[in-house]
Amino acid sequence: MATIKTLNSQSISDAVSVLDQGGLIGMPTETVYGLAADATNGKAVAKIFEAKGRPQFNPLIVHVLDIDKAKEFAEFTEQDEVLAEAFWPGPLTLILKQKEDNCLSDLVTAGLPTVAIRVPAHKGARALLEACKKPLAAPSANISGTLSPTSAVHVSESLGNKVDLILADGVATVGLESTVVDCTGDEPYILRPGGITAEEISDVLGRDVQYFETTDDNIKSPGQLLKHYAPSIPVRLNAIDVQEGEALLSFGSTKFMGVKGKGAVSELPTEQHKNLSENADLYEAAANLFSMLRALDKPDFKGIAVMNIPDQGIGVAINDRLKRAAQSK
Ligand code: TXA
Ligand code: MG
Repeated sequence: MATIKTLNSQSISDAVSVLDQGGLIGMPTETVYGLAADATNGKAVAKIFEAKGRPQFNPLIVHVLDIDKAKEFAEFTEQDEVLAEAFWPGPLTLILKQKEDNCLSDLVTAGLPTVAIRVPAHKGARALLEACKKPLAAPSANISGTLSPTSAVHVSESLGNKVDLILADGVATVGLESTVVDCTGDEPYILRPGGITAEEISDVLGRDVQYFETTDDNIKSPGQLLKHYAPSIPVRLNAIDVQEGEALLSFGSTKFMGVKGKGAVSELPTEQHKNLSENADLYEAAANLFSMLRALDKPDFKGIAVMNIPDQGIGVAINDRLKRAAQSK
């Protein structure tokens, strides 16, 4: 079981070591306790999905100390700055356009061109962000489909054997998650109600902000409403060989695989073949998934052949994403 440590300078430096090594931290925030990992480390982020038992890669919120940090990887319009100024630090998450070639793992954003950013107000969360000097990806620290945690003990009950260290700093004052506002279109709208009300946001902007309307025909969870990353060329799953003209996304050993009518897979040029994990490490595969799919998504290829990925642990989430990528064609 993970130790619960009262938040102080010693436990913060312990937490920084865990984060530097790609581990998971139970982190207090003013909304709910978060399950935090280094947002620039794909393997660490992959652990979040497995720990929560999330069947799919919903994009995660990136936590930073202030707007200047956020500007390192997101584009702010004037209106976005008005919202940030009014509500940060605090329980508001802004969905913004990502800057190109930023340091975030593609897994954090589920391969989307946008990113969710929050500047927490909680003193302990801020002390951790200041000490680790990295953006932290953090969903609520609970198993998927169960109640969000508002104390360190809740985190321990739910994920005690999955996190490396839990920082305890009282009870989360907001107790429900941040309000998520999508700022990527012409009009901002609320994807998830939360710590900041629609009225507060409307007051600041001087006009009414709408909720994203959900009906029986569309799905309630904002995560499911998203268009996930899908390559522009067809994706073929469970490939046991490669057709001529296809690119290959492999996993583990490719010793016995061939290119139809051509010879060994090992002769494919590197632009045409990426291996998610030569050692068949599912965490490494999850961390590489979006960036490798992207690298192979070229009009020169007829499609992407993807080898079978074991449907266990984080592999279930990888397969969920691959199925979506394959379906869209
Ligand atoms: O209060 C909170 O926001 C907590 C604490 C720990 O900070 N975190 C939290 O994270 O609730 P999470 O991952 O459970 O919720 C993220 C929400 C999801 O509804 C997700 O679909 C949405 O934000 N989201 C994240 N990135 C998005 C994106 N690029 N576009 C649209 N929605 C996004
Ligand atoms: Mg949650």
